Amino acid sequence: MSPRAPARMTVPELVDWKGKGRRIPVLTCYDATFARILDQCRIPVLLVGDSLGQVILGHESTLPVTLEAMIHHTRAVSRARPWGLVVADMPFLSFQVSPERALEAAGRLVREGRADAVKIEGGERSAAAVRMLVDAGIPVMGHLGLTPQSILAFGGYGVRGRAAGEGEAIRRDARALEQAGCFAIVLEAIPAALAREITGALRIPTIGIGAGPGCDGQVLVLYDMLGLFTEFKPRFVRRFVEGAEVVAGAVRAYAEAVAAGEFPAPEHCADPAGPVAEAPAGSAADKAAGPAREAQAGSVADKAAGPAGEAPAGPAVGGREASAPKASPGRGAEGPSGPRQRRGQGGAA
Ligand code: KIV
Repeated sequence: MSPRAPARMTVPELVDWKGKGRRIPVLTCYDATFARILDQCRIPVLLVGDSLGQVILGHESTLPVTLEAMIHHTRAVSRARPWGLVVADMPFLSFQVSPERALEAAGRLVREGRADAVKIEGGERSAAAVRMLVDAGIPVMGHLGLTPQSILAFGGYGVRGRAAGEGEAIRRDARALEQAGCFAIVLEAIPAALAREITGALRIPTIGIGAGPGCDGQVLVLYDMLGLFTEFKPRFVRRFVEGAEVVAGAVRAYAEAVAAGEFPAPEHCADPAGPVAEAPAGSAADKAAGPAREAQAGSVADKAAGPAGEAPAGPAVGGREASAPKASPGRGAEGPSGPRQRRGQGGAA
């Protein structure tokens, strides 16, 4: 008999947290390394947000994010097998065309990305797609208020729900999503009083971002709260560490240690005292070292120089497989995109 898999967070349990008054900390996550860290911290929901378009891929909005990219990153996160739910964002145009298309896209996020649930932007207009997914057994998280996939229509990343009628529309949307079967709703950049009122009216948890403390949970973009993204800081973000400074300090220290010949030290050599195989005369190592070196192949100097130009044989430091150095990716064909316009600034309406 196979051993039982360790218990994981479930959708019904998360909904239960609301009933128990237990607040829900959610973070975005886009890769396996951070998924493991979030897992150590028992984060109950890891949201593979389409914010990865900006944070990871360098786009200026979430609109260029493809379903393939979402599947790729969702799979990376779920490969870490976190305890928390892995919720994958449905990217632009993956659910707006028809409920059937939405089901196909969500099915791929679940089957190929191993998502536990998906997130869909929009209220009444998305309710038919939500219903079809829920009927097929795919849990859905809703997303209302500042929905970044509508940025062209909104014309900016300001607060939503202040204008006459807009607050009422968000209330209606929230009810429609709950009735369609959503298990939670993200409320982004709406007035705190409206978020509190909607939270009180719903049975399912609300997850706020720039929506005040009256929600059942909170979500932040991981790179914002870690201070890794520094070009712009939305008003509602708290940096819990100045990550960019920490990383830059470490990178500078590394570059200085290499320049000064302090690193690598003997303890960092994969094989500091191992035997050195003699390079045969006329070998690639000799050619790489130039004609003078080729002439002396087999000499004492050659033995002392070691097998230059050959890939190291054993495992590299840290137990990783020895591998050829990777080519630097450099800048993409698109070139630098300029300062990223941030989602959910929550500033001017
Ligand atoms: O894409 C994302 O990261 C999100 C959250 C910020 C709610 O939608």
